[in-house]
Amino acid sequence: MAKITASVYTSHVPAIGAALDLGKTHEPYWQPVFKGYEYSKQWMKDNTPDVIFLVFNDHATAFSLEMIPTFAIGCAAEYQPADEGWGPRPVPRVIGHPELAAHIAQSMIQSDFDLTIVNKMDVDHGLTVPLSLMCGQPQAWPCPVIPFAVNVVQYPVPSGLRCYNLGRAIAHAVKSFDAPLKVQIWGTGGMSHQLQGPRAGLINREFDNAFLDRLVTEPKALAATPHIDYVREAGSEGIELVMWFVARGAMADAEGGAAPTVKHRFYHVPASNTAVGHLILENN
Ligand code: DHB
Ligand code: FE
Repeated sequence: MAKITASVYTSHVPAIGAALDLGKTHEPYWQPVFKGYEYSKQWMKDNTPDVIFLVFNDHATAFSLEMIPTFAIGCAAEYQPADEGWGPRPVPRVIGHPELAAHIAQSMIQSDFDLTIVNKMDVDHGLTVPLSLMCGQPQAWPCPVIPFAVNVVQYPVPSGLRCYNLGRAIAHAVKSFDAPLKVQIWGTGGMSHQLQGPRAGLINREFDNAFLDRLVTEPKALAATPHIDYVREAGSEGIELVMWFVARGAMADAEGGAAPTVKHRFYHVPASNTAVGHLILENN
């Protein structure tokens, strides 16, 4: 049987991808950001899974206002890095896992989570930057990836609690896949940031650190935070944080199992307009 071994949480700032691609990681501005992921890159080497289930948001790259799926699961064999305006990032293509993805889609739709099935999709910084932060600059990504896109761009967006319960359904689906696969689930985006309007540049360290604390210790209560609190406290793009609940709801303690071990925690401001937050939790 397949199992979820760990969850990873990280921001996805596009300028981080550019800093890596342009060889700027040792510049004084970027060095502290990448230092926070040194542990993570070694941990990934030591704990390479068979599949990463990567929860991310598309930024009007694969989807547009013409079509807005709330939850979309990638069932394709591969995905190309998207051209976000400056050409596609020079990173490896993403290899999918169509068998596990199709199994998860089947299980979740039967559990009343009405997913959109995506068989062709380019992936933007929401997916490629977390891979770069965790894996560095390899010739090929270390394992197949199932992209899972959540709409956090155009309201109405799903609630934190819906995302948490969706994570529980993903864990249930993974457990019933008949192959001994080790699966990591990643929740990406956040932390506090606002990219437009009079409050552009807003960062809230206190909110972010309380979020990191409570995501570990009382995720279900934290998941009940209403959208308006993110907008007020963490900026309009802080709403990306609801995606972290998908990964957290997939951990064993959501179903009465043991609490996870915190392997790594990192927080840094600034990176572009965003507070960078990062956690690695292992199931026991
Ligand atoms: C930035 C952050 C994002 O989450 C994003 O999607 C685009 C830009 C930023 O900090 O610049
Ligand atoms: Fe974003």
